[in-house]
Amino acid sequence: MTFRQTFDILICCVMCVVLNIVVLVVSSSMDPVIVSRSDWHAKPPKSIEVMMNPVPYVVIHHSYLPPACFTTEECIKAMQWMQDLHQINNSWADIGYHFAVGGDGKAYEGRGWSRVGAHAPNYNSISIGICIIGDWRERLPPESQLTAVHQLIEMGVREGKIAEDYKLVGHKQVRDGTACPGEKLYSSIQSWPHFYKVPNPPLPRAQPAVITLKEDNRLKKRTALTGII
Ligand SMILES: *[C@@H]1O[C@H](CO)[C@@H](O)[C@H](O)[C@H]1NC(C)=O
Ligand SMILES: [Zn+2]
Repeated sequence: MTFRQTFDILICCVMCVVLNIVVLVVSSSMDPVIVSRSDWHAKPPKSIEVMMNPVPYVVIHHSYLPPACFTTEECIKAMQWMQDLHQINNSWADIGYHFAVGGDGKAYEGRGWSRVGAHAPNYNSISIGICIIGDWRERLPPESQLTAVHQLIEMGVREGKIAEDYKLVGHKQVRDGTACPGEKLYSSIQSWPHFYKVPNPPLPRAQPAVITLKEDNRLKKRTALTGII
């Protein structure tokens, strides 16, 4: 091999690495495709509690059920299924999660950035709860689904909804008796940015002020704080 050939190969490798980094940086700084509540035909919430932003935590869940969805049509059905389960079977105000991310690579709006959730007791008003739709005990979600989760978190930070120094945890770290977000996904999120190894179970934390929009909220607030997903 001539010096010239070696040089060419070297330049090629360098360009390839640079290109990869550019793609990575650009894709993670892009906003995910957000599917609004009206786009997935959500039922209205029974009541609303406003949450203060930015929140210091991100809590990662899997749905377990419904199973993974890979088309937007399937993911819309999954969202409706979860909303019915939470509103009807569990008698909660709304779907418990702030967002859910589908195998179609889209982020579905649940309670959104600024409403108290029902996904992890003690953390419902100080975190964004993200459900990665599927059962991730034995396998990992597709890369595109995980990219959308990262993009969603980055978007939240950029828009001042999530604190810049946020702590990311898996559901099981903040609640006894759940395997959520599944063993395989849980081992993966430990290498994500901002992963936080909290003691299990956590100490209850001070809650930020919550503005209650509706009066008869005591029952809902209690179920929101004790709800299991
Ligand atoms: C929710 O309630 C419906 C109707 O009562 C029932 O058919 C269904 O099995 C319940 N879903 C779950 C997951 O428990
Ligand atoms: Zn969970």
